[in-house]
Amino acid sequence: MKTNDALRPFFEERRVLLAPMAGVSDTAFRTLCREQGADVTYTEMVSAKGLSYANEKTRRLLDLADGEDIVAVQLFGHEPDVMAREAAWIEGELGERLAYLDINMGCPARKIVSKGDGSKLMTTPDLAREIIERVVDAVSVPVTCKFRRGYAVGEELAVPFAVMAERAGAAAVAVHGRYAMQYYSGSADWDTIAEVKRAVAIPVIGNGDVRSGDDALAMVKKTCCDAVMVARGAEGNPWVFADVKAALAGSDRPKAPSWEDRLAMAHRHADLLDRRGGKNIVRMRKHAMWYLAGLPHASVARKEINSCQTLADFDRVLEALRLAIEKGCEDHVRPV
Ligand SMILES: Cc1cc2nc3c(=O)[nH]c(=O)nc-3n(C[C@H](O)[C@H](O)[C@H](O)COP(=O)(O)O)c2cc1C
Repeated sequence: MKTNDALRPFFEERRVLLAPMAGVSDTAFRTLCREQGADVTYTEMVSAKGLSYANEKTRRLLDLADGEDIVAVQLFGHEPDVMAREAAWIEGELGERLAYLDINMGCPARKIVSKGDGSKLMTTPDLAREIIERVVDAVSVPVTCKFRRGYAVGEELAVPFAVMAERAGAAAVAVHGRYAMQYYSGSADWDTIAEVKRAVAIPVIGNGDVRSGDDALAMVKKTCCDAVMVARGAEGNPWVFADVKAALAGSDRPKAPSWEDRLAMAHRHADLLDRRGGKNIVRMRKHAMWYLAGLPHASVARKEINSCQTLADFDRVLEALRLAIEKGCEDHVRPV
């Protein structure tokens, strides 16, 4: 028997979440974020249609890392039949490692909304309701959905949409406090998250502009949300989860990572991507840019990163940067 309470105890113990991020939240990044304290990590969004064609690239998005014993999978699509069937397939594949299935109702990308997927579903709430109901019926794990403040700028849809989702059987909602048509501009409206929290009894995951433990504390204080979800704040900064976790627990905050920590994490990230095989290592270009942001003497490295093709290429660039920093910053000269 399914109940909307399915995730309440879950989020009492797991309050720090890595958001679903297409092109970013793969097994390598999820591993690093979990190590730094993320309680739940989401896969990149997975196309239900792609799964229905047994598309290999789509299926690989469901690969789990060694030791990854819980994950949230995010599914997108607009056809209730396909969504329900593929949700059941995912559950069969991942078994107990699947903590819950999330439905993407917030993505604003043109190629997604043009098909009626992602945030476009906020404008078709009857269809969104049918999708949630069908997916809830098809699986035994809890089902959640992630959406935004609204679709068009100025159109407040989050509260009625959350109420609809709860009635349709969703066990939690994740709310990003921007309109879809704002994409990532402006700032996230946390009042929207607070309003949703007051309107539904299921857990509410707050999302938008959390980049530190202080931000997480402020969001929880303002919205009373049950869990905090971080996306861009984790780019090049998996340590954000340790900070958020400590802040929410009221314990001592970790020190900010040193430049050595950053280079070591970048190397580790590249290594994990390399182990995934194929062209995954090329993803490291953007991650390396993020790890290097703000580091001194990094302008040459930044230029070279864009032509790196292999793990050895990245390691060469990182080593050259290490030497440049050591030479250039007296504070960091190593004893000989
Ligand atoms: C590179 C990138 C990829 C994203 N991919 C997804 C996705 O696959 N599914 C989704 O629901 N949201 C996706 N988002 C949105 C984030 O999950 C999150 O809602 C948004 O970035 C706001 O949170 P933040 O302020 O912590 O970044 C993505 C965001 C970024 C920056």
